[in-house]
Parts: sequence; C-alpha cells; structure tokens
Amino acid sequence: SRVYQLAPSILSADFNRLGEQIQRVEKAECRWLHIDIMDGMFVPSISFGMPVVKSIRKESSLYFDVHMMVKDPERYVEEFQSCGADMITVHAEACRDLAETVKKIHETGADAGVAVNPDTPLSAVTDVMDQVEMILIMSVYPGFGGQKYIPESTERIRTLRRMLDEKGLEHVHIQVDGGINRATIDEVLAAGANIIVAGSAVFGSNIEQNVRELQEKISS
Ligand code: DX5
Ligand code: ZN
Repeated sequence: SRVYQLAPSILSADFNRLGEQIQRVEKAECRWLHIDIMDGMFVPSISFGMPVVKSIRKESSLYFDVHMMVKDPERYVEEFQSCGADMITVHAEACRDLAETVKKIHETGADAGVAVNPDTPLSAVTDVMDQVEMILIMSVYPGFGGQKYIPESTERIRTLRRMLDEKGLEHVHIQVDGGINRATIDEVLAAGANIIVAGSAVFGSNIEQNVRELQEKISS
C-alpha cells in the first residue's frame, strides 16, 4: 500500500500571511509542505532562502519538502537541513556529481530527492534510483507557479513507475510538480505519482476547500 500526499507549494502563498496560510493547510490535514528555493541562476527567478525556512519551522510540524532549483546545490544542503528541511530535492541538471550530492544530503540526516526537468531524459537519474527516497518529475519548466501542465509528463511518470517496479524499488516516491489542479490530478495519480505538489491550485483562493477537493481525489 503506497502512501499518497498532497504537498502544497508555498510559492503561491500570500507571504504577508505566510504563517497563517501554513497553519491552514496543516489544519486541513496536509502532512507535507513543498518549499521552492530558486537562485536566479538555475532558474530565472529568485524566491526566498534559509531565513524563511528557519522561521516557518518554528511554527509547523509539517514534513518540509525543500525543492532546490539551485545551481551546485551541494553547497547548501547542510544549511537547509539545519534550517529544518526533512527532504532535500536537487536537480540532476544542476549537480556536478549527483550521487555525491545525494550522499551528502543523507549525511545531514535528511531524506533525498532528485528532480528532472521536462526535457531531461529519465536516464539522468537511473544510477541513483536505488539511493533516493523520491524522484521528482517536473511537469512544467521550473521557475514560476501557475503554469500549464505539460501533457507528455504523464507518460514519463508511467515509464518511471514501471522502471522502479522492475528494479524492486516500489517504495520510492514519485513526485509531480507543476500545473496540478482538479483537472490534471487524476491522470498523474493513475500514471503512478504519489506525492502531488500544488501551488496555485491550493493557495489561489479558498485554501480549505481546495485542499479538500484535491485530497478527495487522492484518497479515492
Ligand atoms: C515551479 C515550482 C512549483 C510551483 C508549482 O518551478 O517548482 O513547485 O510552485 O506551482 P503550480 O502548482 O501553480 O504549477
Ligand atoms: Zn517545486
């Protein structure tokens, strides 16, 4: 029995009321929180960094899923873990030595994830599949919230789930991130994703209602 989780992405939250908005997803029975770190190099935009993670950690017991859209992320994994990251996900495209970076994440005590952009072949992560807790299939080009789901992502999720099953790695999470909403969530679940990131579809309007609607689909 696989665990399924909705991981609201705070990139779309109202930062003026960040603590309150996180409490609302927590009360709505989410267990994960997706935290997007953008460096203005690996992706064009800059989001926020360690002080924000550290300060929300004080008020939340959610599982902090830190998505590093950062060039050479190994430079910062220790610091993010000490700021409160439970999972640290790095991009295959951004690492000089992916296996070494995964090892470094584990040495901090955090769980490790590896991410692939929409145009990166899955072969970029095959060597580390048996060393990570999660593989993130980006279903938009990273950098901004509120983009449209790239339909080809569904087949990539299906292929990855098959590869993991064949290797006896059915416990590895498949996360999908980008353009997930009421209309696209069913097909990514059916394809084998089990950790579902949603930013604008959660924080866009009524948080409680949005979470409820997405959770219903996840648990059905
Ligand atoms: C995109 C980020 C996503 C983003 C998703 O680069 O990695 O986590 O917040 O936003 P939505 O769900 O609105 O596509
Ligand atoms: Zn993300």
